[in-house]
Amino acid sequence: METIKIQGGIPLKGTVTIGGAKNSALPILAAAMLTEEPVVIENVPNVADCKTLITIMRDLNVAIDYIDEHTVRIDSGHMQNVCVDSEGVSKMRASYYLLGVLLGRFHEACVAFPGGCNFGVRPIDIHLKGFRALGAQMDVGAMIELHADHLKGRNIFLDFPSVGATINIMLAAVYAEGTTIIENAAKEPHIVDTANFLSSMGADVKGAGTATIRIRGVKKLHGTTYAIIPDQIEAGTYMVAAAATRGDVTVTNVISRHMDSVCAKLAEAGVGVEELDEDAIRIIGTKDMRPTRIKTMPYPGFPTDMQPQTMVLLSMVRGTSMINDTIFDRFRHVEQLTKMGANINVEGQIAIIEGVDHLEGCTVEATDLRAGAAMVIAGLAAQGETTVTNIKYIERGYESMVAKLQALGADIWKDTGTGSLKVIKGMAN
Ligand code: UD1
Repeated sequence: METIKIQGGIPLKGTVTIGGAKNSALPILAAAMLTEEPVVIENVPNVADCKTLITIMRDLNVAIDYIDEHTVRIDSGHMQNVCVDSEGVSKMRASYYLLGVLLGRFHEACVAFPGGCNFGVRPIDIHLKGFRALGAQMDVGAMIELHADHLKGRNIFLDFPSVGATINIMLAAVYAEGTTIIENAAKEPHIVDTANFLSSMGADVKGAGTATIRIRGVKKLHGTTYAIIPDQIEAGTYMVAAAATRGDVTVTNVISRHMDSVCAKLAEAGVGVEELDEDAIRIIGTKDMRPTRIKTMPYPGFPTDMQPQTMVLLSMVRGTSMINDTIFDRFRHVEQLTKMGANINVEGQIAIIEGVDHLEGCTVEATDLRAGAAMVIAGLAAQGETTVTNIKYIERGYESMVAKLQALGADIWKDTGTGSLKVIKGMAN
């Protein structure tokens, strides 16, 4: 079993470059199947979730070539199948985007119920309501089967600004007759990125990034070359790691505006935050932090995907902090942090954090992707050695995390379980 090992207590120092956003790459890779013409996508992060999606797409007879490590060429001209039940689907929440794409292009889809990170109930009723409004009939069981004689644009009000449902309805609506209006749409940066990608293929999508998105159906989409935006959550993770180790780190290749809520909360807690220019932020850690209250919200609110990492930071701040995760019931990392000496009580979706002086290294489990990142941050800040198990979760969404942290001075390595402990610095991922 592969693990990540960390000798904690070293302040991170230096500069880290942020890669392409996983949560943009997934819908954009899938959306490339909406055209028969070749599409080139740049800045695709080299993470397990993207590789899983690419494998699923190849099963649909889509030709996908890597031009370089982060650039893929996708040719869906010979797609045949609308039925996907490969193992990958059950591994990954974002496989729900196959539904929107297949329904949009072929008026037919048959996809196994999507899996993904295991935190609480993750229904897709809002997605299905949207497809139904566009004219799809469905049969939902272990497989989700969709069929539409034709798709017609409608006004669709989302009961919640769901990221996945907003994107999925956009994907299904690009070819629908007339205009689809999504009200109470999600506004996350990856919604805007996906809309920009669709527009670059000739789709008519207006208003992404606001609560009302209008999609006027077109007859044809064409090929394009498109670069994915930087990963807001990867950036936030390194920012919090810098603060937790009382380090001094500049994250580059970010869109600073996307980081506003994270910067605001770090500053409120007393961390030094300097926006160097539009694509770089410097974080200067301090021992004199203040307890803080955080409520996760849809964008531009504080992201639920930064909640576990921030909890690690607050667990070492004297006084009482509070985190209310209004989006997901995702507190499985609390048990792991408690093993390291943190004092956290959870009631419903609220965690009350009594700051402790320090955390102690031990063996902890990555219970999901962001919780795994949180465990790494905890290990970097803790006294002694930490072993993080179940690191396949971390590799789903972070490219070269071990190497990036080594470059910031961390004593961290991947143990492949084959007896060789410390791998050569810079060689691990
Ligand atoms: C996406 C992100 C995930 C992030 C989340 C919130 C991807 C691949 N994943 O997940 O990293 O944590 O946004 O920013 O981009 N809901 C329903 N019914 C639905 C859909 C959602 O009740 O049909 C609820 C969910 O249970 C949750 C809330 O709406 O409570 C938000 O979920 P949503 O925004 O859809 O998240 P995901 O698309 O699953």
